[in-house]
Amino acid sequence: MSPLQSKFRETALASELVTEEQLRQAIQLIVQSRGGDPNIATEVNEKKVAQQLVEMKIISAYQADQLLTGRTKLNLGPYIITDWIGQGGMGQVFKAVHEMLGRESAVKVLPLHKTTPEAIENFRREIRTQAKLDHPNLVRAFDAGEDGNVHYLVVEYIPGTDLRRLVRSKGKLSVQQAANIIKQSAEGLSHAHERGLIHRDIKPGNILVTPDGVSKLSDLGLAFYLNDASDPRAGKIVGTADYLSPEQIQTPQHITHASDIYSLGCTLYYAVTGKVPFPGGTPKSKARRHLHETPWHPRRFNEEVSDDFVDLIGDMMEKNPRERVQSAAEVAERLAPWAADDSPLLREDMGDRPRWMPAPISSPDSQDTDPNDVVTEMAMSEISDTSQSSIHATMTDDSSISGQHMKPPPPLSTVEQYKMAAHLDDNTTFSIAALFVTAIVCLAIGILVGFIAGYLMGK
Ligand SMILES: Nc1ncnc2c1ncn2[C@@H]1O[C@H](COP(=O)(O)OP(=O)(O)OP(=O)(O)O)[C@@H](O)[C@H]1O
Ligand SMILES: [Mg+2]
Repeated sequence: MSPLQSKFRETALASELVTEEQLRQAIQLIVQSRGGDPNIATEVNEKKVAQQLVEMKIISAYQADQLLTGRTKLNLGPYIITDWIGQGGMGQVFKAVHEMLGRESAVKVLPLHKTTPEAIENFRREIRTQAKLDHPNLVRAFDAGEDGNVHYLVVEYIPGTDLRRLVRSKGKLSVQQAANIIKQSAEGLSHAHERGLIHRDIKPGNILVTPDGVSKLSDLGLAFYLNDASDPRAGKIVGTADYLSPEQIQTPQHITHASDIYSLGCTLYYAVTGKVPFPGGTPKSKARRHLHETPWHPRRFNEEVSDDFVDLIGDMMEKNPRERVQSAAEVAERLAPWAADDSPLLREDMGDRPRWMPAPISSPDSQDTDPNDVVTEMAMSEISDTSQSSIHATMTDDSSISGQHMKPPPPLSTVEQYKMAAHLDDNTTFSIAALFVTAIVCLAIGILVGFIAGYLMGK
């Protein structure tokens, strides 16, 4: 194969990412590195050329892979796609650079199969919403456009990770780390709230964290202006079941800023415990538990969490929105002592009503759900089902008569499950274990005595 006729050459030139001259240089460098004469055309493997172009920083590794598969279109409007970042509920996210401005951005693409008039209107709403916000703790929106039938949004590229990925890779955070991240998110959220926006989809996956420790709230796509009757999704729950507020479940068309505070409280719970408040189950059962049940005490999973910190999480996760912390600014203010250093200030007790189930027992909790696996969109009819079944459960369950919320089914280890199945308590288990050990010791002694006796008789 002559280098001048290779398929890769055609693709690379058609993509306009590589010039004729750059290709020539790349091939020359490869031939030279082999000790050949760069002026004589020799066979050059196209993968090697692609690799060389990456080393010369002319194309990215992602672009090289795409060109090698024969793809020539690697742009969306004026944005040159340089990498793939991830897949979200809405669509794919790419890293891109503007061909003129050279600015790095994240491009969020609306998938073709979702390109219905309603989806496009939602997408345009996201664009208009984000463009009105300007805060260091909110991901900035730069631009939006269409390329053929592909609709896309261009936002600030945030290097680093998101809170969900951070916790999944490193486990639960320290109180200080969690306070720091959630405080910054609350500051961004307060900015959005002051401008009449409700985020409606606050969750760990939507909190981006830079390597410098700056947190930015992303995806205000589900936010909408208060009382915006034209929003086609006003009658539906849209979001991830693990972070839904009770009122988002019951009356999604009448939620206030307090709904975001609940979701942020669930996110704070996740950050310090590494667990979603209601692990396991279906989106519907999670919704029911948000309405009627009490999560495990956070100290069950993180002994570092003080009573004051637990109270703050509880104040954010109050089921009644009127009893919840009322503003994101107050959340940020109350988190400040923990975010600054490791010595939280002592705070007066918040009241005498028990908010958590008794704390803490040190058993491993193996049951957990992926907080982002379940993106739920439930119609109002389903919600009324949920509410009715919950009400039924509340009325028929004795434990709810006292007025306290029902404890959710505890995540059980295998040993615990066995004990429950056999109706054994700790003492019984201990007795059986002791009996078992005694039997083994007796057996061993018996074998030894038999062996010695046999030996002596043989003599
Ligand atoms: N502005 C950004 N800069 C860098 N990475 C981003 C940016 N926005 C999103 N990402 C990353 O892209 C991936 C997909 O994000 P996306 O927001 O589409 O999905 P999601 O938050 O998981 O779900 P949802 O669509 O429900 O919000 C995630 O890994 C996220 O961290
Ligand atoms: Mg997101």
